Order: sequence, then C-alpha cells, then structure tokens
Amino acid sequence: MRIDPETVERIKQTAAVADVIGDYVSVKKKGANFWACCPFHGEKTPSFSISPSKGIYKCFGCGKAGDSVRFIMDIEGLGYGEALRHLAKKYGIDIQEEEMTDDQVLRQNERESLLIILEYAKSYFKSQLHDSEEGKSIAWPYFKERGFSEATLQAFDLGYSPEAWDAFLKAALKQGYSQEIIEKAGLVTQRNDEGKVYDRFRNRVIFPIHNVSGKTIAFGARILRNDPKSNQAKYLNSPETEVYHKSSSLYGIFQAKNEIRKLDVCYLVEGYTDVISLHQAGIHNVVASSGTSLTVEQIRLIGRFTQHVTVLYDGDSAGIKAALRGMDLILEEGLQVNLVVFPEGQDPDSYVRKIGSEAFIDYIKEHSKDVISFQANLFLKEAGDDPFKRAELIKEMVQSISKIPDAIQRSLFIQKTASMMRLEEEVLLAEMNKIHLKNLKQKGGNVPTPGQVSPQDYQEIRQLIEPTAQPETPTHQNLAYYQESECIRLLINFGHLEINPEKAPGVTLTHYLIEELEGVHFQVPLFNQIMAICKEAFQGGISPKPDFYMHHSDEEIQHFAIDCSSDKHNLSSTWKEKHDIRVVMEHDMLEDIAFKNVLRLRKVYNDQKLQESLDLMANFQGDSSEMNELLLNFIHLKEVQKNISQELGTVIEK
Ligand code: CTP
Ligand code: MN
Repeated sequence: MRIDPETVERIKQTAAVADVIGDYVSVKKKGANFWACCPFHGEKTPSFSISPSKGIYKCFGCGKAGDSVRFIMDIEGLGYGEALRHLAKKYGIDIQEEEMTDDQVLRQNERESLLIILEYAKSYFKSQLHDSEEGKSIAWPYFKERGFSEATLQAFDLGYSPEAWDAFLKAALKQGYSQEIIEKAGLVTQRNDEGKVYDRFRNRVIFPIHNVSGKTIAFGARILRNDPKSNQAKYLNSPETEVYHKSSSLYGIFQAKNEIRKLDVCYLVEGYTDVISLHQAGIHNVVASSGTSLTVEQIRLIGRFTQHVTVLYDGDSAGIKAALRGMDLILEEGLQVNLVVFPEGQDPDSYVRKIGSEAFIDYIKEHSKDVISFQANLFLKEAGDDPFKRAELIKEMVQSISKIPDAIQRSLFIQKTASMMRLEEEVLLAEMNKIHLKNLKQKGGNVPTPGQVSPQDYQEIRQLIEPTAQPETPTHQNLAYYQESECIRLLINFGHLEINPEKAPGVTLTHYLIEELEGVHFQVPLFNQIMAICKEAFQGGISPKPDFYMHHSDEEIQHFAIDCSSDKHNLSSTWKEKHDIRVVMEHDMLEDIAFKNVLRLRKVYNDQKLQESLDLMANFQGDSSEMNELLLNFIHLKEVQKNISQELGTVIEK
C-alpha cells in the first residue's frame, strides 16, 4: 500500500541520518560530518562518512551510499515501504496511507488480521509448551532430549500444539478471532463434508516461521516420535497464505541476518533442526530452505545480506543431488557458492552435537569446496574412463560455469576445470561461447546493438561472436559514457538553477536539457531512467534539486546522484569549501557549460556513427549504388563533425 508522499517526506525529514545509523554503529563527529566503521563491510578504521546537512552517508571503503531509508533497507533487509514504516514507528509518525480501492483495503486488512492471528497462535503454542501439563510432560522432555536449551526454545519461539481436535480453534474463537480468518491463516484443516474444521496441528512440536523482519508468517510442526509404522508425515507445514509464500521464505533468516552480514557468509542447511542446533552451538549465520530445492526468491533474499553461500548438506547422495540442482540458480544470481558434505548418515544438527562447535567450524573450513570443483570431482568418479560420459558431463559443467555473471570468475573456473579434466582451455571456451550464443538467440534473436546492453556486455558479446576479430577500440564507448554522465551530473547538481537569469529568466537547466536532449537515447540505461524521472517531475512543474535524486527510492539512481554530488573523494569540510568554489564557478557559466556539454555528447554519437560507417565501407561487398549511399552518408557525418567542432572551437583531428 502506498504511503502518501507528504508522509514520506515527513519521515525522511524526521529520521536524521546520523541518528538512524547511530542505532547500529557508534558514530563520531568530526567537523561537519560523522564517521563510523562501516556496518556493511568489516573494517577497523572508519571510512563510513555521514553528512547530516545532506542527509546522506557514503562508505569510501565499500562504496555503499544512501539516505536514512536506504540504510534501513540494507541493514534490516527490508523493502522501501517496509523501511519507511519502520522509521515511522521509531519516530512516532502516523502513516497516512494513500486512498485505497475497496479491494486494496480488504487485502491490507486481511494481511494485518492474518499477522495478528498468527502472532496469537505463536504465543498460544508457546504457552502450551511452557505452561500446560500436557506440554510440560510431553513436548518439553522432547526438546530437552534433543539438547535444546531454554534460551534456544525462546530464540526460536518453539511451542507445542495439544492433542485435542479443536483446542486451538476453541481458544482463538474465545479470544474473539473470526473463524474465517483462522481458516485463512491455515491454522485449521479444510472443511469436511459436514462443513467442520479441526486444528491443523495436533500433538506436535511447533516451529514458527518468521519473515525477515521477525513477524510470524507460518508454522512447521513435527511429530514427537519417529515411528516408522505411523503413516503420519514427520513434518506438517502451513499452507500458502496471503502472508506466507514458501518459495520466498527461508527458515531462520530473522535470527541469522545480522550475523550473515557481519561474517559475510550464509550457511544453508536443509532443516529446521539444523538451523536451531547450529544456532545453539554459536553459529548464527544459518538458514534452511526447508527441504525443498532453492528458489530464485530465496537466493535473492540471501543476496541482500551477503554474496557468499556455503551449502551444508547430508552425506547421503540424494541430499547432494538436491543441492546441486539449486546451484546453477545461485551462480546465475552472482552469488559465490561453496559446498560442504558431511560424513554418511550425519546432518549438520547431529554432527555439530557430536563434535562440538569448534571442530564443526574447522570441518567446514577444511571440507569446503567451490561448487565447480565439487561437481568436477563427482563427475570424474561417476564417469570413470568412458569418453562419451565424460564429454556429456563436461558439457554440463561448462553449462554451469556459463551461468556465472562475472567474466573474470568465469574464466578462472574454466581454467580450473580444464586442468582438472586435463583438457585444453580453448576447448572449454569454445563450448561456452556456443552456449552463450545459443542463449542470446533464445533471448531475442539478434545480436544486440551497443544501446541495448551495457558497454561491457556489448564488448563481451562482440568478442564471443568474433573471437578472432580485433577487439573494438573501446574509446568511443568510454567517451559516450563519460559525456553522458557529465550531462546527468549537471542535471542532478544544477537542474534547479536558471541557466541565464538575465536573458532567459525562469528557464532552468532541467528545462534546457530536456529540450536540448529531445530524441536522444542514452547508451547507459540508468541515464535514461534518470532523464525519465526528471521529465516526470518537470511535467509536474518542478525542476528537481539534488535532493530529489539523492533521496530517490531507486537504489541505482540514488547511488549515482550521491556519487556525482559528493565528488570522488570525501565529504570533509575542506573539500566542501573546494566544492562550493566549483559550484559557484559552474553556476556562473551554466548556460555555456550546458551548451558545450550537449554539443560534446552529440559529437561523441556522431563519431560513433562515423566509425561504424568506416567499418561498413571497409568490409563492403555489395554493388556500387549501395556503396554510393554509404559514401554520401559518410560525407554527411563528416560535415556534422566539422560543424560541431567549429562550434566547440576545437580542431578537427582527422
Ligand atoms: N520436511 C518437511 N516435510 C517432511 C519432511 C521434511 O517439510 N515430511 C522439511 C522440514 O523443513 C525439515 C527438512 O525438510 O526440517 C529436512 O528434513 P529432515 O532432514 O527429515 O528433518 P530434520 O530437520 O533433520 O528433522 P529431525 O532432525 O527432527 O528429523
Ligand atoms: Mn535431523
């Protein structure tokens, strides 16, 4: 549900950035700014600077930057709206929701009611464990036998559901909860033929499932005894509801998130009890996928806190196969994955209890293998000497490697695999290029033009297609990026100022650039986005100030704005003086600077076209009338180049 813009503004105004950050790390005042040790990457000397006057922070170590809302999003792993609500609560600001449609009101109310009944259910199950005779005599001893301490029971809100058919239903109805909402929360079974419902969880120990901000969204429930003859499932789980989407939840994420960020690695296990036992052993950076293979949403959830995942799986081969199935997905998201396998018959829960936490951590360190080498080893064993099998398996490996977004990592893995498989690197590279091309064709058919992809990707794709061709000279690409970013930098810093108050009163730089750049499509997608939000604001009668961009909800836009406003180096006061000097200078000559910038940008685009035209002619194979056309085009471009250069007062190079 959208929060109305005025409230958003009020939250941003009230939540002073230094105060918000001060809740998480200790901040020290130095001059006009505050400094802290960056909470996002480990460091001992502070390189994390906070500027209260601008309401922003920037880490000169890891590059993280933003305002108070961004900080809460990143540190708590919340979405934009959630972060705003979080801050509103802290500063006692009432949230005015934008008027909602009836349907939205219903859904909003339903979500809230669900969270309330789930919270009630959690405390009900907890009190059954701790206060009822039944719980104390059956469930409590069960947990003790598993070695769970009192603190652990509390940390995970563990509970017990009594044996009676409708104990919970009765209690909840008595509290005044509607049967409809109890049903929607999945706390009772579906209606039978007579329209009757029963408690979903009976005579089981209860594992509440929390979302990333600690709200109870579902339950897992385990039978007390492992009875092979019993036809009851070992675990029962809540069904999907409006607040519980199994595929995007991870068990333990709330308890683990801070430690994951701090240690910069997330351990991924299979089950509830693995998470809990490791936590009790002092290993807190652990979450479970709850017995299913990983989904992209779950991987992205981990990715909010770290880029490193270590998968800890059972020694049995089913577990390993399941683990490997998820790997390509993790690789594709750019996360770095290691794998640890435990001795046959042991899972992390049993193993940590057997050998203790220190030995456990040593074991992880010793046995942790990157997933590619792991796969290679497994395959080598499986395939033996059979060349057909080997070829098949090598292809599969290359397929996995091709998923890694980072080119350097990819080539390191290719090297490693080649040496493990005793193959030439070129053979693997050729195979990978084939896969890339196939994927490209599947995606959109044609090879992209520079405007459609980032400059690096473009270079990379060109090289894949023409592995023997000379790599294109990158100068035009880089120049375009540089010139485009100059335009956007001016727009962000000075868009609200008049370009020439005497001759053209009221015409802001925003106004000027929008008109001058009409029809220009930037090659860097981010800049088009920035232009788009700028136009939107301008149509609403506003020429945005730097704040508008620096506090924008889109992370990339915000980051770029902060970077180009805070110069490259630092936010210290000496620099600020320097910066102010530059502001004055640029301000005075705004019209001239803007004009030249637009011209330079046009020149870069024109130079690119000239280069393309030259290439075309060099490789030309058609008839003479077509050649004529090419020539005319070339002459025209050359003419444009001359005119721009004259305007700019520069000499023509070629
Ligand atoms: N699971 C499930 N339904 C089942 C079996 C398993 O949802 N019928 C999920 C649970 O999240 C469980 C995980 O898969 O935690 C791993 O299963 P398993 O290894 O069998 O359970 P453990 O967590 O090891 O539980 P325990 O140690 O109590 O046997
Ligand atoms: Mn187990």
